[in-house]
Amino acid sequence: MRRLDQLLANLGYCSRSEARDWVGSGAVTVRGEEADDVGARVSAADVRIDGEPLDHPDGLLLLLHKPLGLVCSHELREGPNVYSLLPARWQRRNPQVTSVGRLDKDTSGLILLTDQSPLVHRLTSPKHKVPKVYRATVDRDLGAELVPLFASGTLVLDAETDPCAPAELKIIAPREAELTLIEGRYHQVRRMFATGGATVLTLQRERFGPLDLGDLAPGKWRELPLDFFTRAPTGAA
Ligand code: URA
Repeated sequence: MRRLDQLLANLGYCSRSEARDWVGSGAVTVRGEEADDVGARVSAADVRIDGEPLDHPDGLLLLLHKPLGLVCSHELREGPNVYSLLPARWQRRNPQVTSVGRLDKDTSGLILLTDQSPLVHRLTSPKHKVPKVYRATVDRDLGAELVPLFASGTLVLDAETDPCAPAELKIIAPREAELTLIEGRYHQVRRMFATGGATVLTLQRERFGPLDLGDLAPGKWRELPLDFFTRAPTGAA
């Protein structure tokens, strides 16, 4: 049970002070009765606005096909961000909708967005070893020796001391590869290829755990059930 004004504000409908006007206008009902007290403690499932149930009162979990050119940071100084693709109401939610890990501005592909912070911690923790599959093109032919090097668990990135966890590299074409990582260090894919003297030209994340992009176009998202990662496995969604 939450205060009605707080509930509406947290779901991005309006500010707490605006909630007073909404309630005054008669647009809000609780269990079918017109609400008259913004301080009343209510259950989200009982609230209707203009007869409509509340917008995702229990939380959001989205699979986004991140396009190039957008950042995953909320810091506006860093440029246009992926959250600008979402409906305005979702952008005003509290807790905030945030990305599970980050993709660089120049990386496209699969990224999860959610307002469920325990899920963010769970999925980004190295302990959980969620495999993430990237497809990269590079500026020179890739040597076969990179495959055992990346798999060895001994590769140390520039300015780091801890070696990278073993990673699976599949060379698909002389200048194209698929790389599966179970961790997510800063610019990790680009820095791993840089140890072999190659510069990444294009980078896309194709899979995250059991999820793939399917036919989702860049800039589009689809919803996942909130319990997607906690319920019994049912295969890819
Ligand atoms: N590795 C990178 O270098 N960039 C990304 O965006 C993700 C992984």
